[in-house]
Amino acid sequence: MLSQSLQDALNEQIKNEFYSAHVYLAMSSWFEDKGLPGFAKWMRVQYGEELEHGLKIFDFINDRDGRALVLGFDAPPADWKSPLDVFENSYAHEQKVTAMINNLYAIAQKEPDYATLVLMQWFISEQVEEEKSAKLIVDQLKLAGDSASAILILDRELGARAPADGDAT
Ligand code: FEO
Repeated sequence: MLSQSLQDALNEQIKNEFYSAHVYLAMSSWFEDKGLPGFAKWMRVQYGEELEHGLKIFDFINDRDGRALVLGFDAPPADWKSPLDVFENSYAHEQKVTAMINNLYAIAQKEPDYATLVLMQWFISEQVEEEKSAKLIVDQLKLAGDSASAILILDRELGARAPADGDAT
């Protein structure tokens, strides 16, 4: 059984993951509007991954005889200056999420709650991937600069991203 304080912290993280999903969905729409369907697809797949992250914690709480909550959150941003601006925001956002996950790990370690530690280990590895993929695209967009042809090539490459098994896209 989860302690109340750990359950509260995990419920907050469900909310944060669902908020992340909405951020990526908003980014996907921005790219659709700019005529970049590959970037939009990449963001749409990311949206599905974030929903899965939230549901992973949701199921974990209920499996531990706790009570998963569906909490509200603010609307995500809707506008960005450029594709690079979108991905710089995405990279910064993932760095914040990493700090949240690390904090959850620290709370679970203090109790200690071993099952939550195992779950958070999965999230810690996932965050390494999340930051890596966002940073790579930031770097590629910086290389592309103002070249429309380079951005269109990148658009085609990113459009090949497929949802992971079980993703809700
Ligand atoms: Fe669920 Fe992108 O972290």
